Amino acid sequence: MKKLALITGGAGFIGSHLAERLIYEGYHVVALDNLSTGNRDNLIHLLNHPQFELVIGDISVEADLAPLVEQADIIFHLAAAVGVRLIVDNPLESMMTNIRGTEMVLEQARKWNKRTIVASTSEVYGKNAKVPYTEDDDLVYGNTTKTRWSYACSKAIDEFLAIAHYRECGLPVTIVRYFNTVGARQSDQYGMVLPTFVNQALCGEPITVHGEGTQRRTFTHIADTADATYRLAMNENSAGEVFNVGGSIEISIMDLARKIIERTNSSSTIQRIPYEEAFKNNGFEDMQRRVPDCSKLDKKIGYKPRYSLDNMIDSVIEYYQPVERRAALA
Ligand SMILES: NC(=O)c1ccc[n+]([C@@H]2O[C@H](COP(=O)([O-])OP(=O)(O)OC[C@H]3O[C@@H](n4cnc5c(N)ncnc54)[C@H](O)[C@@H]3O)[C@@H](O)[C@H]2O)c1
Repeated sequence: MKKLALITGGAGFIGSHLAERLIYEGYHVVALDNLSTGNRDNLIHLLNHPQFELVIGDISVEADLAPLVEQADIIFHLAAAVGVRLIVDNPLESMMTNIRGTEMVLEQARKWNKRTIVASTSEVYGKNAKVPYTEDDDLVYGNTTKTRWSYACSKAIDEFLAIAHYRECGLPVTIVRYFNTVGARQSDQYGMVLPTFVNQALCGEPITVHGEGTQRRTFTHIADTADATYRLAMNENSAGEVFNVGGSIEISIMDLARKIIERTNSSSTIQRIPYEEAFKNNGFEDMQRRVPDCSKLDKKIGYKPRYSLDNMIDSVIEYYQPVERRAALA
């Protein structure tokens, strides 16, 4: 009998790619999603697949969640209000989704003792200036009046909850801290930098760089993220542990903007926007560098990122090309 995987947030960017991987590995996949930031179109190629089902529902509604957890052999909890921009614009609803929603998923998983993977984020490291981040580093946050920290805090609470479920109840749960993941189907609507820049470049609009653009980031191709998530999930020895999942190539945001202009052959200019303007005076604080140490992940599952930054940019460019141009490229 085929095993059943439940992906909360399965209509989202990472969830839709993970669904493909799980189906390929022989799983039946149920995606539970309220389509708040996710999209049915992300799953258009799977909707008629015999191993796939999309359930429109909410992780915070027990009647939606409980029967699916009961049936599942494994749960990938990805549903969340994602990204600092969304949280800054809708702090209350976002925190409720991230904290209460995760609490409900873990409670149901505990009830049936189901293998669970919880998606966290590099944001949990906050403004710790150490480079690179290892999983047991301190988490350093700003004041509660600065809304941007509530995303990091809500995800840190998710991690505390998951670890407590492991230690007190023996729930086989693993936490993955994703660093900037990019690729096809990532929305440009919630401030994710790479799809935003690519879209601006393709439309010939100014590329909007926040601050000086000297902040540096690493990026991970979605295929590497989905692969690491799947292989960690299959490794029962990873229960109770936290793993960074990220890339190794670092680039400044200004250089990223330049590279995207070059690869799209765009006439766009680069426009610097002060943080106060971009985030409407929410006291935005940004990190200068955010680099993962993935040696723990490498040791556990033999992880090496396989894609160059150019590959990643090109896959986003291809995704955002007008349909007729995409067809010509295929
Ligand atoms: N993409 C990244 O670079 C990145 C980086 C760090 C962490 N993450 C984490 O990975 C996970 C997936 O992120 P993503 O990039 O695919 O974002 P996404 O917005 O594409 O996916 C999140 C999905 O959750 C769904 N959702 C939100 N609230 C829900 C609710 N209450 N009930 C049911 N579904 C709900 C959304 O509709 C969406 O489909 C998130 O937990 C996020 O915090 C992503």
